[in-house]
Amino acid sequence: MTRLYVALFMALFMLLAVLGASCRGAPPGPAADGWLADGIITAGEYAGQTSYGDYEIHWNSDGRYVYLGIKAKTAGWVAVGFQPEPLHRETDMVLGFVRDGEASVLDMFSTGDLGPCSADSELGGSDDIVDFGGREEGGETTIEFKRLLGTGDEHDGELFSGINEIIWAYSSLDDVRQKHTERGRGEIRL
Ligand code: HEM
Repeated sequence: MTRLYVALFMALFMLLAVLGASCRGAPPGPAADGWLADGIITAGEYAGQTSYGDYEIHWNSDGRYVYLGIKAKTAGWVAVGFQPEPLHRETDMVLGFVRDGEASVLDMFSTGDLGPCSADSELGGSDDIVDFGGREEGGETTIEFKRLLGTGDEHDGELFSGINEIIWAYSSLDDVRQKHTERGRGEIRL
């Protein structure tokens, strides 16, 4: 009988441990239908899109997360900045690139008027990109990523339902310390 109680206790303990782990790891909000961070922007994957020359940005939100896809005619980095200040002083930026088939998407922040841009985690903040992917093909780079609308990190611009200001840029190089070849301002409507 004692053995049965011990076995039951162990089973209950393990069930609670598994449930606890999956709650910590699972995203708290529902995922946008069909969104996949594979570096391929497919028809219907995003709710909105706009383009600025050879740079296009696609977006979707489920009220908790924002899902973004950026594609530009470049083999270098592509980027978006949220709720920008004049120039890019104290502006939240996400830069992504694909090198040797491997995508990197960095949660960054520009401290000065025109840089330098550093990773939020190097400035005492956190990396808040919860999922990402990217692909480079035919001279075009695509990155896709997911982030909370409001991360709580002071290095991240909070995004809202409605119109959000952005800056956009891309470079001919993967080196994120190198300046853009094209850049501009725009907006996304979540
Ligand atoms: C990688 C580091 C970066 C450096 C060293 C840099 C440097 C500069 C410099 C020197 C200018 C002024 C000259 C010009 O207009 O071209 C500028 C302007 C600008 N940059 Fe950057 N930049 C960087 C990253 C970015 C990123 C990631 C974005 C977008 C997400 C961006 C968006 C812009 C925009 C929109 C302007 C024009 C500002 C305005 O019209 O007020 N930059 N940048």
